[in-house]
Amino acid sequence: MADKKTVFLTGSGGVLGTVYIEKFLKNGMEVIASELPGERYDGLMDRYGDHDCFHCIELDVGSEEQVAGVFKSLATKNLFPNVVINNAAVTGELLMGRGEPFPDFANTKLETWEKTLKVNLTGAFLVARQMDVDIVGRYPAKLINVASMYALNGPHHDIYEGMPFKSFSAYSATKAGIHGLTVWLAGYWAKRDCTVNTIAPGAVFNDHSVEFQCRVGKLIMLDRMAEPEEIADAMTFLVSDNSRYMTGQIVNVDGGFSAW
Ligand SMILES: NC(=O)c1ccc[n+]([C@@H]2O[C@H](COP(=O)([O-])OP(=O)(O)OC[C@H]3O[C@@H](n4cnc5c(N)ncnc54)[C@H](O)[C@@H]3O)[C@@H](O)[C@H]2O)c1
Repeated sequence: MADKKTVFLTGSGGVLGTVYIEKFLKNGMEVIASELPGERYDGLMDRYGDHDCFHCIELDVGSEEQVAGVFKSLATKNLFPNVVINNAAVTGELLMGRGEPFPDFANTKLETWEKTLKVNLTGAFLVARQMDVDIVGRYPAKLINVASMYALNGPHHDIYEGMPFKSFSAYSATKAGIHGLTVWLAGYWAKRDCTVNTIAPGAVFNDHSVEFQCRVGKLIMLDRMAEPEEIADAMTFLVSDNSRYMTGQIVNVDGGFSAW
């Protein structure tokens, strides 16, 4: 019989994280959501705090000290994640929400570059390294790293002309890097019963203007942005035992963007 899934998700309070939580709970999974302290963490507690299978912890994935203790502290509550999802990221949505400007490349601050690397790539490394210490080899497990359609394919910069947001270089660099971590770990953990895959979501609709939807739609075979639920369906497949023979793969859920 398949093991019950206990999913540990980082950066859970965002556009996709909340939809993943919804889907995992509906599928009878135990969910350990983690998020930075603040509004998003509070929102998760308000929304799911009463659910028996929902647990929420504060975690900054860029903090070596916090990540070091995370799985041991869950074990004291009898929580043993067998699926870990590196989902936390500095994203365009996040920068826009904070009212941070999208600089052109020449004016990109080293601080923005380093902060993005620290969360998106170093954070994923720290969580994976802690899995190696506390989980891998002790019981069967999975790691899912979250990349983007802008990991292995460059953006069409023209579609951002006149838009309040853009793509940014550090984001693409970290999303390509995270797949490097996937393929490295997939072989390293294969004999210890732990698979590692990357999911690369496409452009997810989040109240974008009609103009932007048209511009990006032209680059997508299916001619439209994704609904968050469509990414969550693919994520649920990766979390489930139905994906047990997959490791070291990148799963593009992008309406055909990367195939053109
Ligand atoms: N939404 C999209 O169109 C899209 C497309 C491709 C890939 N993705 C990827 O999917 C994932 C989720 O995206 P989203 O749209 O929900 O993004 P989002 O910006 O809404 O959520 C990201 C979450 O990460 C959290 N976070 C930031 N820094 C953190 C840190 N140091 N420690 C812990 N958490 C931290 C934020 O608080 C936020 O809740 C990201 O990895 C993103 O790059 C999203």
